[in-house]
Amino acid sequence: MQGNFSYYNPTKLYFGDESLNFLKDELKGYGPVVLLIYGGGSVKRNGIYDQVVAILREAGKTIVEDPGVMSNPTLEKLNEGVKIARQNKVDLILALGGGSVCDYAKAVAASVYYKGDYWEKFWLKQEQPDANQRLLPVACILTMAGTGSEMNAGTVITDAEHTFKVGHVFDSRLMPKFSILNPKFTMSVPIDQMKAGIYDIMNHIMEQYFSDFDDNTSDYLAEGLMRSVVHSARIAVKDPQDYEARSNIMWTATWALNTLIGLGKKEDWMVHMIGHSVGAWTHAPHGYALASVSMAYYRRAMENGMPKFARFAHNVWDIPTEGKTERELAQAGLQALKDWMLEIGLPLTISELGATPDMIPGITETTVVYPAGYLNLTKQDITDILKESL
Ligand code: NZQ
Ligand code: ZN
Repeated sequence: MQGNFSYYNPTKLYFGDESLNFLKDELKGYGPVVLLIYGGGSVKRNGIYDQVVAILREAGKTIVEDPGVMSNPTLEKLNEGVKIARQNKVDLILALGGGSVCDYAKAVAASVYYKGDYWEKFWLKQEQPDANQRLLPVACILTMAGTGSEMNAGTVITDAEHTFKVGHVFDSRLMPKFSILNPKFTMSVPIDQMKAGIYDIMNHIMEQYFSDFDDNTSDYLAEGLMRSVVHSARIAVKDPQDYEARSNIMWTATWALNTLIGLGKKEDWMVHMIGHSVGAWTHAPHGYALASVSMAYYRRAMENGMPKFARFAHNVWDIPTEGKTERELAQAGLQALKDWMLEIGLPLTISELGATPDMIPGITETTVVYPAGYLNLTKQDITDILKESL
């Protein structure tokens, strides 16, 4: 294992179908005003909102609400949330929803006490809050598995006016103080969103796995997580109410992106960069945007990362090594990935998401490009990948 790193993850997790019972005790650690953030209404329809509000009331909290956080939250909405938090002297931000709600909560928490232009500082310049800046504590009650936002400091925000979606990973001060993960809460997630979340998990692992060639414990962990996602996804698409499969998916999502499996690794993240841009132009669910450009991207990455793609074929997909060249093995691994994506019903083209050829220059332009795992792409390469993905 090469590289130097430190590991610190302050998020306390409660997991399981009784995990909401721990909320009341956790609330004792915070002041009286709770900003309850949620999305477009699913938590009201499935009854989770009522359960959470009852606990907040029992704990004597004053509830301030910020509803209507959309999927892929916008800068405009963030401005609204910051205003609400500023007006109400909030003590704790409680996110109740999926990755969008959780990301947004962290974005509000970082911005409330910043006096300047928080969009410019945190997202455009990618700076961290100053050491003496006050940050509000965030907690997350997760209702959808996928992003890992419940145990990381990521916040992805879309500037809709400029069709620009950009993420910022804050330092550990913005990680949720605690997160509650009840797999039963994910049962009402629409099947398309469940599948998008599943591919998001798979791709988070691949983004970290497909870099470097050293013998690194992180890669063995990644392989185990990928095997679990592949297995549980097959069960969940046939029977979305299978608790065991849904609970494994939820737990895998957390470990796929809480920094653990990226330790000692360069990492990649170009599928996410292109995917974010596709998402900004098509409004597709995040995981679908990633799926739609993955095959064209990984065919290219394989050329520079052949030994790793061969290892992926054998260790993740159980493809026998005998009688195959390294290239044949690597290709068989990518084919297995594609077959699995088709089996669980993921989109493999950007056209399926509504992208048209005339959008390609714009999607290319708004894609953030940097030297990644095994590739050093140019803007022309991005255009070619998008054309191949049509
Ligand atoms: O808004 P509501 O009505 O709640 O509906 C949501 C939304 O429409 C619905 N949903 C969530 N839980 C539900 C449910 N519907 C029924 N029952 C439930 N229990 O699902 C839809 C999607 O929710 P959303 O939160 O948008 O999905 P996801 O968790 O995939 O989050 C996507 C966002 O996270 C960002 C993405 O870019 C995107 O903006 N990401 C955050 C990352 C991070 N923090 O590290 C990394 C990821 O790569 C990703 O970029
Ligand atoms: Zn993702």
